[in-house]
Amino acid sequence: MCGIVGYIGKRDVAPLLLEGLQRLEYRGYDSAGIAVGGKSGLKTVKAKGRVRGLDDKLPKRFAGTSGIAHTRWATHGAPNDENAHPHLDAEGRVAIVHNGIIDNASELRAKLTADGVEFASETDSEVLAHLIGRDPADTLEEKVRHALRLVEGTYGIAVLHAGFPDRIVVARNGSPVVLGIGEKEMFVSSDVAALVSHTRQVVTLDDGEMATVKADDYRTYTTEGSHTSASPTTVEWEAESYDMGGHDTYMHKEISEQADAVDRVLRGRIDDRFATVHLGGLNLDAREARGVRRVKILGCGSAYHAGQIGAQMIEELARIPADAEPASEFRYRNAVVDPETLYIAVSQSGETYDTLAAVQELKRKGARVLGVVNVVGSAIARETDGGVYVHAGPEVCVVSTKCFTNTAVAFALLALHLGRIRDLSVADGKRIIAGLRKLPGQIEEILANEDRIAELAAEYADAKSMMFVGRVRGYPVAREASLKLKEVSYVHAEAYPASELKHGPLALIEPAVPTVAIVPDDDLLEKNRATLEEIKARSGRILAVAHQEQEKADHTLLVPRNEVELDPILMGIPLQLLAYHSALALGRDIDKPRNLAKSVTVE
Ligand code: AGP
Repeated sequence: MCGIVGYIGKRDVAPLLLEGLQRLEYRGYDSAGIAVGGKSGLKTVKAKGRVRGLDDKLPKRFAGTSGIAHTRWATHGAPNDENAHPHLDAEGRVAIVHNGIIDNASELRAKLTADGVEFASETDSEVLAHLIGRDPADTLEEKVRHALRLVEGTYGIAVLHAGFPDRIVVARNGSPVVLGIGEKEMFVSSDVAALVSHTRQVVTLDDGEMATVKADDYRTYTTEGSHTSASPTTVEWEAESYDMGGHDTYMHKEISEQADAVDRVLRGRIDDRFATVHLGGLNLDAREARGVRRVKILGCGSAYHAGQIGAQMIEELARIPADAEPASEFRYRNAVVDPETLYIAVSQSGETYDTLAAVQELKRKGARVLGVVNVVGSAIARETDGGVYVHAGPEVCVVSTKCFTNTAVAFALLALHLGRIRDLSVADGKRIIAGLRKLPGQIEEILANEDRIAELAAEYADAKSMMFVGRVRGYPVAREASLKLKEVSYVHAEAYPASELKHGPLALIEPAVPTVAIVPDDDLLEKNRATLEEIKARSGRILAVAHQEQEKADHTLLVPRNEVELDPILMGIPLQLLAYHSALALGRDIDKPRNLAKSVTVE
């Protein structure tokens, strides 16, 4: 998604803003720009392409002590210099950067054009610069508030005005904005990743909230003008955790650190005495948990797939009917909200607009909604009634790996917690806890096989498409592995329930369309083996992920056994590496795959 960085203080602003933009590069974008406030008014430079291109374009003298900058992921208008942010008003005295979508931009644009305004870009965002620049109010805060009252849609904005050089005004509605509190200097950003190397004291704005940010002070208020008291919180993650740590890509780093990440999501939560777990922030007591008649899990992409694994675990361990649904579908289908259903929103970033909108729709209808989220203090974490943080640490690569795994483990904890409140026995509780404790070591064991996985990635590099199949517990594993391959290597892949192959997709099977089959040693082993036979009979090539060699498979990637309910957590990990090495062999931009963004804060 687009990224915003701003600074006001005593230091030279341009290098700070460029460094901040580089921290946000992982979020995906196609152009960037910067505006700096100085004694002679505002100076702006914009460039299509990477931040490096913007840096190269900056004039030697580009000094200033306040500024805003932006990386753009095009929604309205092609990626080019003119459409890059910041956008200026006609007099060049107002500069704005904007994340989000202004739904009524064309109507506002028509009115402004009829009034003689000439637009320099095709973007929706530019209307904001003109509305603010033309507003007659005496203060910048009033100008911005008046403009925002005319806007329908989502925004995270930062505004500079040549007439008010001592401040930056920011506002949030649906797209994140955080303030970074420094020593006689202040930062603003759409993502704490751009701030943590300078400060870990942050203030996160809520929807409908604004702030006036000066070098030594800030104040927050609503878009209606009433004062709010947003208090600072400390960012959980150190700046170094955003570094690549000696790896060539964030994806490789994040795959490699999964054992430590799983350690973190387990830490301090296991209760051996009662063979259960403690989830401090859940905000759901035992009596309320016993009243839950159904669980509905909502998320997008990998979060949705992790939710499918979670639903399976909750059904198996807590015997509560559970299912997962894409949040992007749920929010539009006017769902019947059931007071006895527990809704769970899953999100790494905690800012995915489709998931946030689903949560807001559920809250509007009186539902109880929990969050399973990675980013502490994110919008979804704040909007839900409680939940479980997955403590994966910052996930920078657009392609989710460690957070997916930690989310699946978080669901195992939740399923165990709910199960032990209901009918799960002490023996089964102890069995699951023993399995959870084995996960980090078993993850290390799987990762140690990376060279073999890289060889297999080369073996299947000629595939024109890949089929991923699994049954029941194995099916969400197949879906997530298929997504991984698609999004990082651009090789077409699809996932199917293994039992469904014979109902049509089997027609696709041929040597050029190999199949990855998830074949755990569970009660469906023989069924899965029969599927391998079906594929083999059609000269399909097979890569099996299994607990033991599969005779019918051309290759088997062995994964250590855990408890059958927890096996899905491990079986997807070798396929993260398969996707990684496939993309490497194809020379893909692994951390920033084309067309994608890390956090999709627009619809
Ligand atoms: C995962 O590899 C994808 N990049 C994407 O599907 C992602 O999981 C999805 O956009 C949801 O993001 P979230 O977890 O931050 O809500």
